[in-house]
Amino acid sequence: MSNPDLILVVDDTPANLEVLSEALTDGGFEVAIATDGELAISQAQLCLPSLILLDVMMPCIDGFETCRRLKADKITQDIPVIFMTALADSTDKIKGLNLGAVDYVTKPFQEAELIARVKTQLKLRHLTQNLEQQVAERTEELTKALQQVQQSQIQLVQSEKMAALGQLVAGIAHEINNPVNFIHGNLKHLEEYTQIFLDFLQLYQKYYPNPVEEIQEQAEEVDLEFVQEDAVKMLTSMKIGTERIRQIVLSLRNFSRIDEADFKAVDIHEGIESTLMILQHRLKAKSESPEIQLIREYDKLPPVECYPGLLNQALMNILANAIDALEEFNTKRTYQQIEDNPNRIIIRTSVINSQSIEISIADNGSGIPEHIQKRIFDPFFTTKPIGKGTGMGMSISYQIITEKHGGKLKFYSQPGQGTEFMIQIPIYQSIENLSLLISCT
Ligand SMILES: Nc1ncnc2c1ncn2[C@@H]1O[C@H](COP(=O)(O)OP(=O)(O)OP(=O)(O)O)[C@@H](O)[C@H]1O
Ligand SMILES: [Mg+2]
Repeated sequence: MSNPDLILVVDDTPANLEVLSEALTDGGFEVAIATDGELAISQAQLCLPSLILLDVMMPCIDGFETCRRLKADKITQDIPVIFMTALADSTDKIKGLNLGAVDYVTKPFQEAELIARVKTQLKLRHLTQNLEQQVAERTEELTKALQQVQQSQIQLVQSEKMAALGQLVAGIAHEINNPVNFIHGNLKHLEEYTQIFLDFLQLYQKYYPNPVEEIQEQAEEVDLEFVQEDAVKMLTSMKIGTERIRQIVLSLRNFSRIDEADFKAVDIHEGIESTLMILQHRLKAKSESPEIQLIREYDKLPPVECYPGLLNQALMNILANAIDALEEFNTKRTYQQIEDNPNRIIIRTSVINSQSIEISIADNGSGIPEHIQKRIFDPFFTTKPIGKGTGMGMSISYQIITEKHGGKLKFYSQPGQGTEFMIQIPIYQSIENLSLLISCT
């Protein structure tokens, strides 16, 4: 059985107190008493009664003032107050109700009526409390549901964006691939043919060192010696150039991995390199920022089972943030300070144990201020200017690594020194994890 409700009775007349206490005790309540308004207030604050029966006419502060003070105090404001008034005094009743009282009883008391009114008010109070709690619970549930909907909308938009980017990249790579391949293939023949021409020319010059005047003049005018040397050099650099384009195309295809939406055992270093390729323009020296040194400390890694496209997306977010942090740090440093401590990103990979590998990406940029460190994985949290950052990069990367790959994403940052992100992922996905992953996707 629940504890009986405590009723605080406030009256300056001892005889009234006695009658009321008896009636309430008989009605199954616990009773506390106070003989004036001030005592009533301090008692109410202390024992928090379920209801207060308050006499209007009292010396010092009367019932109205007592009620006003009870209602003004956060601790006591919700305790229902029933006034006790003289039978005929209707103005008192109205004043009391206006001050926040829930009901009144008239003296002399009808015991049954008193108990009935007290019970009704207590019932109402319990119902209100229940209702408030239910409303609070529902509001919390709805807020959570709203957050979830927002989160999935964002993810949907982001994954559509990435899919579109992937498709674009894959499309461009495909279109460039064919012409580059035939240029590259034909260059070999062109080189051969050029060599044939040059050999032939030399042979001709050997046996006819003094040709007719017109030929001599023409040879001087076109600077034949230079052209011969330069043609070979140009062909060599064209070969290097097309080879480079082929590498870029390969990286673009590797980055998008559009054809590989499934789990696959891949070379993690290939993923890192193709992501670096996409970000290369941001690593080079520009008029407004110096070059960012890249240091690779790659361990020998086994093929790792992952979603290559998603993992590359996480790598790209982390690397882009490192570049942003370095650029931001540069704006706060002098030329000399930058020269003494140049921009640097170190990428380390290692095998942690037979089950997992780690990729660490460390920059010596601005670092993350301590008070925002716990917020960087929150969706929409950004410290970048409007239009630059969406604040989604880290929350998506976190989800990709922890939920999609059953891995861990941690970081260590020291403001003014730099930040290191550590991605740990399993080499093999366990059967349980795989089925969990399939149900998540
Ligand atoms: N390497 C880092 N150095 C310093 N601060 C960082 C680093 N990585 C993340 N942060 C902080 O974490 C915040 C959140 O990063 P997140 O990638 O989620 O969003 P963003 O980079 O601001 O925007 P975007 O959605 O375009 O990536 C950043 O605004 C930045 O304050
Ligand atoms: Mg970012």
